[in-house]
Amino acid sequence: MHSRAMSDTAANRTIDRKHSHVEICLHGDVAFSGKSAGFERFSFEHNALPELSFSCIDLSTTFLGRSVGAPLMISSMTGGYSEAADLNRRLAMAAQRFGIPLGVGSMRQALENSAYRESFSIVRKFAPGVQIFANIGAPEIARGLTPADIATMLELIEGDGLIVHLNAAQELFQPEGNTDFRRVLDQLATICASISVPVIAKEVGSGISATAARRLIEAGVKVIDVAGAGGTSWQKVEEIRYTREFGSETRFSTPALEELLDWGIPTAQCLQDIRALKSEHPAMSGIEIIASGGIHSGAEIAKSLALGARIAASAGALLRALHEGRLEETIEIWLNDLRAVMFLTGAATIAELREKSLIVKS
Ligand SMILES: Cc1cc2nc3c(=O)[nH]c(=O)nc-3n(C[C@H](O)[C@H](O)[C@H](O)COP(=O)(O)O)c2cc1C
Repeated sequence: MHSRAMSDTAANRTIDRKHSHVEICLHGDVAFSGKSAGFERFSFEHNALPELSFSCIDLSTTFLGRSVGAPLMISSMTGGYSEAADLNRRLAMAAQRFGIPLGVGSMRQALENSAYRESFSIVRKFAPGVQIFANIGAPEIARGLTPADIATMLELIEGDGLIVHLNAAQELFQPEGNTDFRRVLDQLATICASISVPVIAKEVGSGISATAARRLIEAGVKVIDVAGAGGTSWQKVEEIRYTREFGSETRFSTPALEELLDWGIPTAQCLQDIRALKSEHPAMSGIEIIASGGIHSGAEIAKSLALGARIAASAGALLRALHEGRLEETIEIWLNDLRAVMFLTGAATIAELREKSLIVKS
């Protein structure tokens, strides 16, 4: 009886947390204060002779061996409470329309009980033709997932892969955070060896260094989503939740707090470092990279690809667009930005864009 009550409390807390994350990301100040994703440091060389017609530019590419309509993904966000079904339905409709991959939010709630499983499974109904990825956090991985847990997550959405989010900074700031990150890599290696779909490792806004990427790849991860610093700061999201719960009670000294709230490797830096890692180790050439963390335009998608990413991904900016009823229009505009950059660099295809070199601004 006692343990049932405890687990109900934990499950309710998961539901409340997922709900408040969306609300805080929409209405709170959650952007990095003193750090950008780093794309402004780069520009493309103008090509006065593009030798192509704008109308013939082809945005299609492949991701994990499947054809996608454009090099963009809707990042993992939500699920696990009643209103999440509507958000996921609308995200799925956009993914289906543009033929782009989609991640669902952490499926921890769906493993705790079956109350809101429809809020996840709805994505497959509305996006039958695109890649959809399951999602679970490092703390759950460290505790150990059973084969049945993994099967539940993948079956709910007919998942094309499993995303594991590495969110140490978020858990550190989260009022109920789990900061035991021992055994994450071991458990991840076990999962990679035992499941038939690819495992994607992603951060949530603090970035993945070349050193961490190398260890993840050696553990069997097939895709690295850098989710670098410069977009949504999950330390800030959780600091807002902490302040709501505990008032101004302080955990860190003021200068350290400032540094920790902005903690992380900018997205563009992660991409440069992981591209260098891949070129030093030809055996890693098949590993695909997702550029995310502070993606706000098609020009940044273009720079991401020239910095070595297979595709780019966005969460916070697309969530705000969805809230304003402009999700599909926003994606449309980003893809038009991308076409514009391709036209002006003389890249008719995404493969050609990836070969363009960037000028580093001094
Ligand atoms: C409302 C919201 C909820 C999120 N929930 C998850 C999640 O459950 N699992 C996950 O891996 N990432 C989650 N993220 C993180 C994003 O996938 C992304 O890595 C991060 O926000 C950085 O990208 P951005 O700067 O484009 O927002 C969430 C993001 C948002 C905005």
